[in-house]
Amino acid sequence: MAIEFTLNGQLLTLDVDPQMPLLWAIRDVAGLTGTKYGCGKALCGACNVHVDGQPVRSCSVPLSAVSGLAVTTIEGLSADGDHPLQRAWRELNVPQCGYCQPGQIMSAAALLERNPNPSDADIDMAMSGNICRCGTYTRIRKAIHRAAGGES
Ligand code: FES
Ligand code: FES
Repeated sequence: MAIEFTLNGQLLTLDVDPQMPLLWAIRDVAGLTGTKYGCGKALCGACNVHVDGQPVRSCSVPLSAVSGLAVTTIEGLSADGDHPLQRAWRELNVPQCGYCQPGQIMSAAALLERNPNPSDADIDMAMSGNICRCGTYTRIRKAIHRAAGGES
């Protein structure tokens, strides 16, 4: 059964197993490898994308669940990699190995959409599901404040 959905603004029809995890469809079928596989069990946030603007763990969502919906990956967050979060991430050299960072940025983007001026506590709560083995949490928090127009 073909599943139709929008991926980064482009209508896509995939004739694959509807139970295929969305992450597989994004990486292996659509060829967008910015979204990462970490745990595969909805525990780490490396695979976070937006579905109709909401952060979703794409490793644990079947493709059938996004039929007719709009999926945004890190590649589609901004046209030219210049989202305020991406700028702040670069300015503050947030990543270490980088593996978790696309998922971190997608969670942060969803946070700023619903709360443009988050407190430390708001950030910690919103980002608590995103694991960074390199421990970049302090820089992530600073970068979110910077992207929100605050200091840091
Ligand atoms: S890979 Fe999806 S939450 Fe870890
Ligand atoms: S930067 Fe290495 S896991 Fe987060």
